[in-house]
Amino acid sequence: MNDQTLIRFADRMDQLPPYLFGMINKMKMEKRWRGDDVIDLGMGNPIDPAPEAVTEKLCHVVRDPKSHRYPVATGLRNLRREIAKVYRKDYGIALDSDEEVLCTIGSKEGLSHLCLALVGPGDTVLVPAPAFPIHIYAAVIAGGQVIRLPMTSPEDLLRKVDDICRNLMPKPKLLMLNFPHNPTAQLATVDLFRQVVSLAKRHRFMVVHDFAYSKITFDGYRAPSFLEAPGARDVGVEFGSFSKSYNMAGWRLGYCVGNAEIIKGLAQIKGYYDYGIFSAIQIAGIVALRDCEEDVRRQAAIYQERRDVLCRGLQRLGWEVDPPKAGMFVWVRLPEALRRLGSMRFAMELMERGNVAVAPGIGFGEEGEGYLRLALVENEHRIRQALRQMRRAIQDMCDEGLVVDAQTAVS
Ligand SMILES: Cc1ncc(COP(=O)(O)O)c(C=O)c1O
Repeated sequence: MNDQTLIRFADRMDQLPPYLFGMINKMKMEKRWRGDDVIDLGMGNPIDPAPEAVTEKLCHVVRDPKSHRYPVATGLRNLRREIAKVYRKDYGIALDSDEEVLCTIGSKEGLSHLCLALVGPGDTVLVPAPAFPIHIYAAVIAGGQVIRLPMTSPEDLLRKVDDICRNLMPKPKLLMLNFPHNPTAQLATVDLFRQVVSLAKRHRFMVVHDFAYSKITFDGYRAPSFLEAPGARDVGVEFGSFSKSYNMAGWRLGYCVGNAEIIKGLAQIKGYYDYGIFSAIQIAGIVALRDCEEDVRRQAAIYQERRDVLCRGLQRLGWEVDPPKAGMFVWVRLPEALRRLGSMRFAMELMERGNVAVAPGIGFGEEGEGYLRLALVENEHRIRQALRQMRRAIQDMCDEGLVVDAQTAVS
């Protein structure tokens, strides 16, 4: 029995809206338990295996009982050095691996704990929206106030940041960025980052850049690191992740690089909360960074192929879609007839009638309403099948009168 007066959550729980993706996931699992084959384009959860050399290393190291002890909380020295080497090689940035690199239990954990270190009541955080939910809620949970900046274009974003900083008192304390952006797939340039640094110095705010999709790039595009902007290290940090590039999402390995003071604060707060990452995973992570560049390239090529299949298919449905240059998602505006239904309702109907799971745009905030995010985490054959099932499900919705003006919904 639930005693309503005895079980009471902290006030901060009231600020957390129902997790829409949780609802979609629950529906998907229930369908699968009933035996339905749901094609899952919902979550950015890679289906392909981690590189063989990485798994081999893990299996080998796990047999050494030394790896079973509490790990070095800030990350093994050799892993931090390897991360620094990657930054030197890929971005021409020399990092001090002791002071400017910290390992995290995936980037989501790092971001969340960093907000606890940097943000508190009375502090304002600027976050472009639609947003990956933790970009907003890490600050909310930490007690800060969030101002959402509609993510129309990166240039527009800069103007809004400047505007708010000129007019708000006290000024914002932190700007949370993420390029290649989830969910919109918008991209940054080094010049954009340069302007961010200049604004940060002028208005005295810190910058956190989530670089989770650093290596998943298409058509020859190269995603710049925030740290490539001169002076970036004076104002902020960047998070990286093994989850996407190396298909290691379940392994929980990421890192934070950049400003030494900020990194020290993150290490301090993490010292209270956790003991770091299982050493065997960290050692396997070294192999990933050192030996698996080709695997990463191959994986990006796989996503590019899937992107092409999905975008062509959506275009054949008569939907307008802008193929992304990076990331793991296609962000597509629903045709008007389906927009009227709302992205959440559409996603649920699609799952129910078509056995296809997608992420409704509203799950990324009201700025995402009218859009869907489709993850490139099923193979090409399954994506083609999903497109066929989408067409049938939409036709079904039209036949039932759920969607009016059927010809604009699907052609
Ligand atoms: C933008 C962004 N950042 C961070 C993460 C989570 O990364 P990690 O697995 O390293 O915690 C995701 C996962 O979907 C993401 O989309």
